[in-house]
Amino acid sequence: MSHRKVSVIMGGTSSERQVSLASGEAVLAALTEQGVDARAIVLGPGDDALSMLAGADMDAAFLALHGKLGEDGCVQGLLELLGIPYTGSNVLASALAMDKLKSKELFRLHNVPTPAYYVVDQASAEQLADVHGSFGFPVVVKPRREGSSIGVSRANNLMELREAVELALAFDSSVLVERFVQAREVAVGILDGRVLGAIEIAPKSGMYDFAAKYTPGMTDYFMPARLPAARYRNVLNLAERAAEALDTGGAVRVDLLVTESQNEYVLEVNTLPGMTPTSLLPKIAGAAGYHFSELCLAILDGAKVHSRKPERRLAADTLPATPAAFEAADEASAVVRRYGAARRSQRSRTA
Ligand SMILES: Nc1ncnc2c1ncn2[C@@H]1O[C@H](COP(=O)(O)OP(=O)(O)O)[C@@H](O)[C@H]1O
Ligand SMILES: [Mg+2]
Repeated sequence: MSHRKVSVIMGGTSSERQVSLASGEAVLAALTEQGVDARAIVLGPGDDALSMLAGADMDAAFLALHGKLGEDGCVQGLLELLGIPYTGSNVLASALAMDKLKSKELFRLHNVPTPAYYVVDQASAEQLADVHGSFGFPVVVKPRREGSSIGVSRANNLMELREAVELALAFDSSVLVERFVQAREVAVGILDGRVLGAIEIAPKSGMYDFAAKYTPGMTDYFMPARLPAARYRNVLNLAERAAEALDTGGAVRVDLLVTESQNEYVLEVNTLPGMTPTSLLPKIAGAAGYHFSELCLAILDGAKVHSRKPERRLAADTLPATPAAFEAADEASAVVRRYGAARRSQRSRTA
């Protein structure tokens, strides 16, 4: 194990604080059991997170935070500034994945199917009716930057839409209205770019809400997801492409919907997924051969400071020669030629 002292960062100020504490305690116990010198840093409301992180004696941070100011790049940014290696995605990917609107824009850019949507920032009846237009019902309304199904609800008509938007606006100033997709739910686990498998989630109430997520017995799980091989592969591929679209790293969980009519949609990518032994990612990893504590060690192994320059350099002879097309006598080509030559000689000096 390359890291000596590890801090498991948990708690935070988001509405997922309790979930984070459960993840953090489970990770701390697993790392300790594996002989890692691990201790907890519990962040909370009013805490000076910068001083707490800067003052702690640690070689790496294992992030067990969920939600705003924990999963969204903020803590990751502090750790970058402090030069402390941390688990999970970098600042940009964390921020993008937390923002469901920006995620969906990138999914669309990368041809990853995601339910149709629009965005609202107020709940006045006339304006909602206007914006909604012919979008149709039912819809799912959700805060743009939340998790654990908090503030998520379904609306079947304009009156319910208004209530749902009001509820979501209690959690965020910006709200997503999505076309409801009648489908089965699947989650895919990815570890350091390697797809681990897909689990199927069947909430007994029909709604995968906060209670269904965290109350034992309220949801059935099928690992692997009950899909024919070709569809299973497609789901894995979509999840991988969704994670790539956001450039995430470390351990991620991608939430998808699969319909009877052979359509698949990506809902979101979670960059710090739940980490109790019964959470989805550990279940998926378990079927791929990772004991919970091995998964924790594997995640810890990927801890890094992303802004640090890679140590390895390209050998001078692996650099491409100037292509013939650039031999044209125009000024830009000359600039490119000079730049390439300068870089080659610089690299051969430092190689
Ligand atoms: N467009 C949709 N159609 C049907 N169900 C949805 C849709 N969007 C979300 N859901 C349901 O709500 C849950 C939470 O939505 P999700 O976008 O994953 O947000 P969260 O970050 O809260 O997990 C999903 O797991 C799913 O059960
Ligand atoms: Mg989700």
